[in-house]
Amino acid sequence: MGCAAAMAEGTALAPTRFALLQGEDLGAVRAIEQMSFANPWSVEELGWLVQEEEGLCLGVWVGDELIGYGLGQVAEGCFHLASLATAPAWRRQGWGGRLLQELLGWAGQRGCRACRLEVRTSNRAALSLYRNWGFREVGRLERFYTRPVEDGLVMHRELS
Ligand SMILES: CC(C)(COP(=O)(O)OP(=O)(O)OC[C@H]1O[C@@H](n2cnc3c(N)ncnc32)[C@H](O)[C@@H]1OP(=O)(O)O)[C@@H](O)C(=O)NCCC(=O)NCCS
Repeated sequence: MGCAAAMAEGTALAPTRFALLQGEDLGAVRAIEQMSFANPWSVEELGWLVQEEEGLCLGVWVGDELIGYGLGQVAEGCFHLASLATAPAWRRQGWGGRLLQELLGWAGQRGCRACRLEVRTSNRAALSLYRNWGFREVGRLERFYTRPVEDGLVMHRELS
């Protein structure tokens, strides 16, 4: 593809960047949350985790646009991944996997030896993503989620 054609495709040449989320990013995070979850976190809840010492909250940008993020906490050598989402227009292009890989790298640097998360049993996209990235189901939490009520699967992966 020539340069002009790539630019015509929009963001093909825009630089991408992974970085820790800051307070100023919370509006953009909240917008993706609202498009992604039935029970989106509030800006206050997001802000608490971003500022928390044990929080590990990473975003990915294409140009100036935040297109995805992952939020979690480091505790006792384990990274608990609490939320991961990519903006709808950017899904199925590998960003979710890249974000997860990046997060696991950061978690390893923060001393984590494992990652754990919960996911709705009906969330086929996320289950497939996590299985592809080496997570295995290690438990089931009955009626863990609300609105709608649903069981959660606990998934775990060792970090090397
Ligand atoms: C789950 C989510 C983060 C995946 O992001 P993404 O950017 O589409 O991920 P990728 O493009 O890296 O996809 C990686 C793999 O995930 C799986 N996957 C992603 N979307 C899928 C879908 N709609 N159906 C089935 N599998 C899917 C596939 O295995 C895919 O690999 P493939 O494209 O080679 O088949 C995204 O769908 C999302 O934000 N969903 C809403 C929020 C959410 O449910 N987050 C998880 C909470 S635990």
